[in-house]
Amino acid sequence: MAYTANEARYNNMVYRRCGKSGIKLPMISLGLWHNFGGVDVFENSREILWHAFDNGITHFDLANNYGPPAGSAEETFGQVMDKDFRSYRDEMIISTKAGYYMWPGPYGEWGSRKYLVSSLDQSLKRMKLDYVDIFYSHRPDPETPIEETMMALDHVVRQGKALYAGISNYTAEQTQKAAEILKSLGTPCLIHQARYSMFDRWVENALLDELENQGAGLIAFSPLAQGLLTDKYLHGIPEGSRASKEHGFLKPQHITDEKLDKIKQLNQIALDRGQSLAQMAIAWLLKDNRVTSILVGVSKKEQLYDCIKSIEKLEFAKDELQKIEKILGV
Ligand SMILES: NC(=O)c1ccc[n+]([C@@H]2O[C@H](COP(=O)([O-])OP(=O)(O)OC[C@H]3O[C@@H](n4cnc5c(N)ncnc54)[C@H](OP(=O)(O)O)[C@@H]3O)[C@@H](O)[C@H]2O)c1
Repeated sequence: MAYTANEARYNNMVYRRCGKSGIKLPMISLGLWHNFGGVDVFENSREILWHAFDNGITHFDLANNYGPPAGSAEETFGQVMDKDFRSYRDEMIISTKAGYYMWPGPYGEWGSRKYLVSSLDQSLKRMKLDYVDIFYSHRPDPETPIEETMMALDHVVRQGKALYAGISNYTAEQTQKAAEILKSLGTPCLIHQARYSMFDRWVENALLDELENQGAGLIAFSPLAQGLLTDKYLHGIPEGSRASKEHGFLKPQHITDEKLDKIKQLNQIALDRGQSLAQMAIAWLLKDNRVTSILVGVSKKEQLYDCIKSIEKLEFAKDELQKIEKILGV
């Protein structure tokens, strides 16, 4: 079936400026870590991508190792690019990353120039692209000088293989250093991709302030704590859910009674607000304007619609926020 994008795709999505850059990102972006690999059903992955773009999601996030097997999410995206998305390429922000294990030997992971440059070349082939919009260092490398990693990001931007540079999983201190080096090279750090959800708030300590100082944006990954911050695990582990899959990163042992108790209480607040828990968890992250976008991962288009609807109710009453803080135990 041929794809033609929905003409009304920009009517409802809201876009936020990424730090002090020229780029705006949709409040909701789509990540391809799970559900787009060789183990998944291609037509389902394709359909989710269509529905995302049809609803104003212009940002798709990948990494060299997404799958499984590693590389296969980029291949899936490349197929959809070829079949459906080519004529919309200029309307999209596509990102990829390198940092985790990809191939054997000393050059297949971490942060050397050798690894980052080779990995991006491989990613472009898999995704059938000439360039990505954002290329990330996926994790800080304790052994490679940070200058070398940042110079590799600057290099690929100058080559035109990436338009912007980003970092992921860097501490606030490492972020300051990386951003200063990038600035001195003339390729500012566009964005930091960090885990951020009601259950993991480390970015609030210093990272958000640092990014504001640097004029960079933050995109929050695993905003639903991989599905915990929804109502799906309230009555056990449903078949087909991430926690039920062998290759899923959410394991049954992560679903503790203590977590379930919090989820139940949060779910009640969400219902009282007229939202699903997933929608409330996303809206709660977006209440800070320094958070440019929320990177959701979905296994079905219905989940995508549920997540997108979160932007219809972003405001929180003071007492709702207080109740949430009490439940989260901060
Ligand atoms: N930079 C990094 O190191 C890093 C690390 C992790 C992720 N990421 C990025 O962040 C993206 C998102 O991460 P994530 O997949 O962990 O995000 P997430 O949104 O926290 O979790 C996604 C899972 O939650 C469930 N879900 C989503 N929407 C739902 C809804 N409305 N109702 C019920 N369940 C819902 C689905 O679970 P089921 O599959 O069980 O249906 C889905 O697979 C990734 O794809 C990737 O691009 C980056």
